[in-house]
Formats: sequence, C-alpha cells, structure tokens
Amino acid sequence: SASSLRLLVKNAAQIALVCNNGEQYLTKDGMQSLAVVENASVVIGHDGRIKAVGPADVIASQFKGAKFDNVLDASGMCVVPGLVDAHTHPVWAGDRVHEFAMKLAGATYMEVHEAGGGIHFTVAHTRSASEQDLVKSLKSRLERMMRAGTTMVECKSGYGLELDTEIKMLRVIDSARKSLPVGISATYCGAHAVPRGKTMEQATEDILTIQLPKIKTLITSGDLQVDNIDVFCEKGVFNVESTHTILQAGKDMGLNINFHGDELHPMNSAQLGAELGALAISHLEEVTDDGIAAMAQAKTAAVLLPTTAYILRLTPPRARNMLDAGVIVALGSDFNPNAYCCSMPMVMHLACVMMKLSMPEALAASTINAAYALNRSQTHGSIEVGKQGDLVIVNAPRWEHLVYQFGGHQELIRYVIIRGEVV
Ligand code: NIG
Ligand code: FE
Repeated sequence: SASSLRLLVKNAAQIALVCNNGEQYLTKDGMQSLAVVENASVVIGHDGRIKAVGPADVIASQFKGAKFDNVLDASGMCVVPGLVDAHTHPVWAGDRVHEFAMKLAGATYMEVHEAGGGIHFTVAHTRSASEQDLVKSLKSRLERMMRAGTTMVECKSGYGLELDTEIKMLRVIDSARKSLPVGISATYCGAHAVPRGKTMEQATEDILTIQLPKIKTLITSGDLQVDNIDVFCEKGVFNVESTHTILQAGKDMGLNINFHGDELHPMNSAQLGAELGALAISHLEEVTDDGIAAMAQAKTAAVLLPTTAYILRLTPPRARNMLDAGVIVALGSDFNPNAYCCSMPMVMHLACVMMKLSMPEALAASTINAAYALNRSQTHGSIEVGKQGDLVIVNAPRWEHLVYQFGGHQELIRYVIIRGEVV
C-alpha cells in the first residue's frame, strides 16, 4: 500500500533517468539525448522496485501522508542509475605489480604472457588458493566497486584453465552473489588462455568434453548459476575455429555469448560473434569496418574497456566509428591483475578522454547498454517505474561531475543504493 514504502530520495537537483520509454539499449542518438529531470524525487517500494520518479512537487503530492523507512534529502545533489560494469575478472590470487614495472619498462602484454607471466602467473596462484581466501578477496573487491557506484557486475572465471579450479572460481562467484547486495552476472571463461603443457586443440577438447559437461550438470541441479560463456579469441591464444566451437557449445547449454575479441590482432571476432548471435564482444581495439557493420546489424553490444588500452598503451578502440555505425556501445572496468581498476567513474572518464565519448554517451554505456550486454536491461540500467531501485547519489549539482571529477570519488559518491537500501 502507498502508506508503507522503502525509500524516498527527494529534491534532487537532477535525476538522470537515462531512458524513459522502456528502451532495452540506446544507440548514438538516444545516448546523446539522455532523459534528465530537474528538481526531482524518486520512490522505491518494499519490493525493491522503483514506484515513481518525477518532478519533486508531483511526487510530494502523490505520496502525501505516505510512510517511508528512509528519506534522503538530495538537495544540491544528483541521482543516476546504479552503474553496471560489463566486464571484470575479479576472482584471483597473487597480484602482478612486478609485471606493471616490466610493462612500464617496455615489455608488451604478449611478451609477458609468453614468458610464463600474465594470465599464467595468476593461474598458478589461483589454483593453489583456498576457496575461502578467494571468497574473501572477491568480496572486498566487489565492496570497493560498490563504493564507486557499481550495483551490477559481470564476473568471469578463467584463472583455473582446468575443471577443479574453474568450478572453484564459479562457486566463489556464487557465494559472493548470495552474501552481497551487488547484482552479479557469472561468466565461464575456461578458454581464457591455453594452459601451459597443453596445445590449443587439447585445451579445446578439455573444455568441450570435461569442463562444459560438468558445468551443465551443476547448473541443471541448481548448484551453480552461470549466465555467460567467454573465450579469449586472439592470435596465439584461441583461434576463430576453436572460439566458434566453444561458444556454440555454451550457447547450446543456454549461456549467453559474451567474449574477448579483436583485441591485439584483427581476428574477425566481431563477424564471428554476430554470426553466433553473441550478446556482447569485449575489447575490439582491432575490429574492422566489416566487423563493426556486422555487430550493428546483429545488435551485438561492444563492451569497450578503456583501462586496457590505457595501461598497455594500445590504440584505443574506435568508439566513434562504432557509434556512428549504430553499434550498442557499453563500458566495463576489465578489473584484473593487469588493469587494477574498480571504478566505473574512472572508466567513464577515460572513455571520454581517450575514446572521445561524450559524458551522456559514457553514462548510457555504463548503465542501460552495459545492462543490455548482460541481458539485464529489462530490470536494470535506468531509473524507470518497475525497474530495480539501484541508484547512485552524487554530491554535486550536475550529474556530469561523476565523470568530470576523476580519482578519489569518496567525497563525490554520497550514497549507493541497491533495491532501495543504502549499501
Ligand atoms: O580482458 N585479454 C584477456 N583477458 C584480460 C586480461 C587478463 C589478465 O591479464 O589476467 C583482459 O584484459
Ligand atoms: Fe578481460
């Protein structure tokens, strides 16, 4: 009943709804004309969903006499949807600060990887870590992401590269899902690298005949929730043929295809993804014009990761060409031991400066379009009636400060709200 509600956020200087017509994604024109209401309030019910949003005076008279568990006065502040991080590798042990030093001294990502470092270094440490320690470090990373405004996050496995550790990682992700309020989309990424001592063909066979069947059993019995399948499609890692076979097998199990493509070399990953009906492809630094056209046509989202190009000093992906072609552009932090970034506001800032997104484009890419890339845009990614009540309250008179101010957002992000609860 209207007499008992969970949360009223009132008198915000601006509420950036992002969209207000039930759009499942935005392409360039929609991203450039985001829905924003001035002097506005939002109401969240006990079901955790948005009950009403609009001009403060309209909401005040509509909910006159209503009781709220919590009322936040957002005068002089702004509200944006909870941020969605569409790509992370947050389950691992053993940091790689020493490799950062090597890369600063000139080593490339693949040189470090081929010398047994990179993903292989993290695999060795993650294989020997206890499940309990992995849960603990994952939870503290996710809490840090939440403090930076992330309310929904994609989490990959992929530092096991064999059955037991891949399952351990997926269980760790499940356990975080059960104990933290942040929304999680879990991705099986057993094809993140070819494990040392195996050929790509052997690794592919292991995934198809051992890992995927076991995961399927665990999903069917309700012991595991897995949403997506990922492969690192890259020269010297998994070729297009293996990528195709693994992704198709995942799709046949009901997983969404969401994979790493066209990062360091043009592989025609984009065309492959479009052909397979992929929900999203990440990286795309080396995508071709044909690949861009195929993704636009197939409505396969491009998950761009500005931290990767930044830290590896790569040419950033051609975001403007993708937007002009009508591709659904989303953003992710790519949090991993190579790119240690937990902050979507930092990612939006980098996307604007390095990939020439506008601030509205960056916000749409980190909310509705990132939700689309995770198949969650029916319930997440905008401030619309019926959607989950996930909000970020920014202590600034215009929402763009969330992108403009960079580094040290402790003072800037005043509240993070998930299902109407302050977290
Ligand atoms: O998205 N490119 C492959 N995977 C990760 C890096 C993972 C790692 O280096 O540990 C990425 O950047
Ligand atoms: Fe990645």
